[in-house]
Amino acid sequence: MEKVKWEKALATGVEIMDKQHKIFLELCDNLDQSVNIGREKSEILSDIKCLEDYAKDHFATEKKIMEAAKYPEKHGHIKLHKYFIDEMKIVKEKAAAGVTGEKFAALIKEKITDWFVIHIDKTDRKLGKHVNYK
Ligand SMILES: [Fe+2]
Ligand SMILES: [Fe+2]
Repeated sequence: MEKVKWEKALATGVEIMDKQHKIFLELCDNLDQSVNIGREKSEILSDIKCLEDYAKDHFATEKKIMEAAKYPEKHGHIKLHKYFIDEMKIVKEKAAAGVTGEKFAALIKEKITDWFVIHIDKTDRKLGKHVNYK
């Protein structure tokens, strides 16, 4: 599977957010590699846990930024973060049940990596604009 990487087009203009997005995408790539190489279930579960913890920290950072900037679309944005955490639970359950291989890699791509990239592009960049132009 193609390596997922942060690119300039995904810049939000908020340094801490961009920094965390880069790390998050690296963690997505780690998980992707673990699944593709066929690593042990325990290692895949630990990669998922890393991603989940990092996502929670990152979403907390964005929440603080939204609050400080009195962002009018805060509520909807936070709802999307919650949706992502719920979707991660599905991925985690599948991994715990021993699901692996191509189908699982496709699920990770859909529920985690692609979702996150689209979220940066459509939702986080909007927040970045608000923070920079208010
Ligand atoms: Fe973000
Ligand atoms: Fe976000």
